[in-house]
Amino acid sequence: MKFEEREIILKDGRRCILKPNSPEYAGEMIEYMKKTSEETEFLLRYPDEVNFTLEKEKEILGSLLENPYAVMMLATVDGKVAGNGSVNGIGDKRKITHRCSMAIALYKEYWGLGIGQAMIGYMTELAGQVGWSQMDLEVVSENEQAIAAYKKCGFIETGVRHNALRFDDGTYHDEILMYKDL
Ligand SMILES: CC(C)(COP(=O)(O)OP(=O)(O)OC[C@H]1O[C@@H](n2cnc3c(N)ncnc32)[C@H](O)[C@@H]1OP(=O)(O)O)[C@@H](O)C(=O)NCCC(=O)NCCS
Repeated sequence: MKFEEREIILKDGRRCILKPNSPEYAGEMIEYMKKTSEETEFLLRYPDEVNFTLEKEKEILGSLLENPYAVMMLATVDGKVAGNGSVNGIGDKRKITHRCSMAIALYKEYWGLGIGQAMIGYMTELAGQVGWSQMDLEVVSENEQAIAAYKKCGFIETGVRHNALRFDDGTYHDEILMYKDL
């Protein structure tokens, strides 16, 4: 969807812009998916699983920009990509069309500056405005920073998905399930 740019002031005094992501960022987004999945194990994909072509990524960003119910939010600091967040429906069957889901990741150098909470706040606001009534998410149980940011934005823990993830080192990790009424 298209939405208004929003400027926020970070904890270190820099300005950050939150704006709709778009096809012109396709190359940077491929790089971003690889780098962020190298910087943390708390994302679903491993870097070698990022295999979008530039053309495919442009097409995805273009169609999300035109989709009035999907959010693809880019955060930039001093003109550089700091992170991205997204909101999508969880399925098209009528019984679940009230629910959407959110994902977010920032480059590590931008963690802890307030960008996450600002993006989560803005994404929940936009999702509510277009009619989603509930936002769901899953977070690795050891991801304390993300859990803290979600709770500060009003998300509530509802349960645990046992051994939801198996890392390449053979360890298993639970996911915490959270939701927010929009
Ligand atoms: C999760 C993520 C989006 C959060 O964004 P962020 O900009 O770093 O977070 P914020 O600075 O907005 O807020 C984090 C809050 O958690 C708090 N926090 C950090 N670590 C914490 C911990 N171990 N325990 C409790 N609170 C913690 C911070 O103090 C901050 O609260 P404050 O603003 O009141 O001080 C970001 O860290 C990130 O991209 N992480 C890697 C990818 C990821 O894990 N994505 C989520 C997958 S579900």
